[in-house]
Amino acid sequence: MSRNKTVAVVGATGAVGAEMIKVLERRQFPVGKLLPLASARSAGKTVTFRGETVTVQELTENSFEGVDIALFSAGAGISRKFAPFAVKAGAIVVDNSSEFRMNPDVPLIVPEINGGDVKCHKGILANPNCTTAITLMALYPLHKAFGVKRVIASSYQAVSGTGAQAIAELRQQVEDITAGRPVQPSVYPHQIAFNVLPHVDVFLDTGYTKEEMKMQNEARRIMHLPAFKASVTCVRVPVYRAHSISVNAEFERPVSVEEARKVLTGVPGLQLVDDPAQNRYPLPLYVAEKDDCQVGRIRLDCALENALAFWVAGDQLLKGAALNAVQIAELL
Ligand code: A2P
Repeated sequence: MSRNKTVAVVGATGAVGAEMIKVLERRQFPVGKLLPLASARSAGKTVTFRGETVTVQELTENSFEGVDIALFSAGAGISRKFAPFAVKAGAIVVDNSSEFRMNPDVPLIVPEINGGDVKCHKGILANPNCTTAITLMALYPLHKAFGVKRVIASSYQAVSGTGAQAIAELRQQVEDITAGRPVQPSVYPHQIAFNVLPHVDVFLDTGYTKEEMKMQNEARRIMHLPAFKASVTCVRVPVYRAHSISVNAEFERPVSVEEARKVLTGVPGLQLVDDPAQNRYPLPLYVAEKDDCQVGRIRLDCALENALAFWVAGDQLLKGAALNAVQIAELL
């Protein structure tokens, strides 16, 4: 790829967008021109890229003239409305929202797993749900070794997954509670500080939330495994950054902890941190701002046949969002 790509970041002032700009810089993506886009509220604000100040512009239908790659992270509604204009202008879209993830014309990519699917794109590529991407970083190598059948999982999701306003809300609530002031939830339906909310995304008729079904639906596409099943409970926790997932996975073939550890050693993008005797296991605090996800607490599941229980953690702004999106752009 030549050094002169014009790269638009839609949602440049948001939690993921800001990270995308940092990742582009850190990985020396061949950006000739950076075009940070956000709502009219943010037009005129600035971001810093490679030591230079770049002005944020309002996103409009005409924003994509001359853009080669457009990284979208401003929510599904914005992607639905504006991604077609980007494609029409000749840009390739890498979309972090859920809008196109189940569209058969749109490859859904975790580069370490199904990077080859990139070549099937028709202008738009989708970045998976953050919890799904982080879980699959550990589950997929195990699947290759033992053949996964189904998964039961619970997530412990950081507030940054909701966006910049949710980070501010947790900070404000911690300050208010510490100062003895009453708490006023606004982003979440309940107080998030010193609490956990078994509620991420909207509820479906089945009683699951949309977020909970993403693991099954998106993993089927990413692993090319249409019969894969996942029953997930997604929980929002008062952690600023990095998601953790408790996974119980049942396999076709017999498993052992020793073999699982071997399979999970040396996987690109994944670190094995599994030494309970030394209190060593993945922690959201320690994977925050790290590119690699971590897996640990690997044990034989005592309630299922041919099954493993394990714990994965990863920075959802990076592997779960910005890093994965830039990795997809790199494959292009
Ligand atoms: P803005 O800061 O101008 O509202 P987060 O996920 O952290 O909440 O960030 C959401 C991102 O999406 C922000 O950059 C936000 O810009 C952007 N955004 C929200 N609504 C629009 C819109 N109508 N047009 C363009 N960008 C939008």
